[in-house]
Amino acid sequence: MNHLLGTRELSREQAVELLDIAEDMAAVQEREVKKLPTLRGKTVVNLFFEDSTRTRISFEAAAKRLSADVINFSAKGSSVSKGESLKDTAQTLQAMGADGVVIRHPASGAPLTLATSGWIDAGVVNAGDGTHEHPTQALLDAFTMRRRLHGAASRGRGLDGARVLIVGDVLHSRVARSNAWLLPALGAEVELVAPPTLLPVDTRRWPVTTSYDLDEALGRRPDVVMVLRIQAERMHGAFFPNSREYARTWGLDDARFDALPDTTMVMHPGPMNRGLEIAARAADSPQSTVREQVANGVSVRMAALYLLLSGERGAAA
Ligand code: NCD
Repeated sequence: MNHLLGTRELSREQAVELLDIAEDMAAVQEREVKKLPTLRGKTVVNLFFEDSTRTRISFEAAAKRLSADVINFSAKGSSVSKGESLKDTAQTLQAMGADGVVIRHPASGAPLTLATSGWIDAGVVNAGDGTHEHPTQALLDAFTMRRRLHGAASRGRGLDGARVLIVGDVLHSRVARSNAWLLPALGAEVELVAPPTLLPVDTRRWPVTTSYDLDEALGRRPDVVMVLRIQAERMHGAFFPNSREYARTWGLDDARFDALPDTTMVMHPGPMNRGLEIAARAADSPQSTVREQVANGVSVRMAALYLLLSGERGAAA
């Protein structure tokens, strides 16, 4: 693997390999000394053109635990034309000898441009681009599901037969897109449920089913309910009447949560809008994996950086 730009192009074998390496990395996290020497002498740049706390510190922790040098570059707010500024930045990073670039950008496709432009030789990891993909988030979600479902017997396995319901703002969510490709590749069945205004039209070509009634979808008793954040910052029109109406129709509120079997996993990529898409009772319940997702994110990102940056770069695709 030279870059990690999305989950769409990942095979089941590649995904399982990455999750298995993440299991090894998780075992390291349980030791007193959490650090491996694997990326000593390599430089990883976190290039963030959008606000982020948890994803940036997660990548930072992952790179540091592999002994890489980490440079945080927060490029938000630059008003230069996007293509131009990305090229200039890339050439600067190349001159500084960056081996890996973790990029978050508001424009879908920016990581692909960086990886294929020839501006830079570094391995590129997409940390979220516009409404396109956020592959390490989907991988940490899959890792979290696999661990809850199979525990110590997770290694080598996919998510065969698991039924996952993804709820809410699919339209603006790169997390939903990356999960919609990855989870079916691992054998899961994915249903998207959202108001018609928040479902993209191109889902017909995704390996998922779609529906428009949350209570009906919950009544089908999915194994996992993944609630998406309402991405107000990407909404420039009226996608639903108001917050109270959204919470009533689309929120995982106390009544809906109480009606779920106590084996149903409740997931959210964070940051949560408590009281809007998810109520505190669901978010803080033992069924919630929200904190596990954050912890597992470091292991999964260590695995991704390890696969991209250890050994010789540029050999196989
Ligand atoms: C996600 C993102 O940025 O796409 N969050 C994250 O990675 N911490 C999901 C979201 O912002 O809703």
